[in-house]
Amino acid sequence: FESGILAGLHLVVTAGPTREAIDPVRYISNHSSGKMGYAIAAAARDAGARVTLISGPVTIQAPERVNLEKVESARDMLEAALEHISSCQIFVAAAAVADYRPLNVANQKIKKSGDSMDLTMIKNPDVVATVAQHEQRPFTVGFAAETQAVEDYARGKLENKNLDMIVANDVSRDDIGFNSDHNAATVLWSDGQQSFDSMSKDTMARQLIELIAHRYQQYTKK
Ligand code: PMT
Repeated sequence: FESGILAGLHLVVTAGPTREAIDPVRYISNHSSGKMGYAIAAAARDAGARVTLISGPVTIQAPERVNLEKVESARDMLEAALEHISSCQIFVAAAAVADYRPLNVANQKIKKSGDSMDLTMIKNPDVVATVAQHEQRPFTVGFAAETQAVEDYARGKLENKNLDMIVANDVSRDDIGFNSDHNAATVLWSDGQQSFDSMSKDTMARQLIELIAHRYQQYTKK
């Protein structure tokens, strides 16, 4: 893409999974590797943006020249996001945030006892929806990881979470999505859409950044 298309802008991207503690040694999480979000951070940097990468626990290396903020839980991620909300123009939510967390976190390791155990979960705050509802809201881009009716569910999230764009991924396939080096997606916005065939996450990130920059320009003209 044209270098400098995001010059002068601050872009915040969330990446990776969150971990929701059960006790001091156990947690609930998911298969996100952080690869998609990290690739977006690198592409945005190459497009000239100042980049803040808010990341859940992953094993991959952060791109150089981005501001990395490590978090664990959904609530940590929300706190980090809110710190940057009024200084960023674009917010991209590629993280796979846990929708629920255990209601009670045990202070000590839970001992094995009966044949079954119950865990009550409560809803986490929604990071990207909170950002998109904020008074000084940035241009907000979400992702949707779905295993069925991918575009329908994604359009629902675009509307319910008040997003400007959503990147819909089919995570039922092994060759793309979580943890893979490749991804395919359909990007939706209020009056349009664009599909991306299977390609490396690095290539997709660059194409997404180009599309985001273009849509952001339209948005600021309004
Ligand atoms: O990390 P990788 O291995 O590269 O895989 C990531 C991916 C390729 C699957 C990725 O691009 C992706 O789809 N990430 C979002 C996964 C997800 O959690 O989707 P969701 O449909 O559950 O959430 C919808 C949107 O709301 C997302 O932008 C998510 O960041 C956000 N969300 C969800 C719940 C919550 N409590 N807070 C949020 O901000």
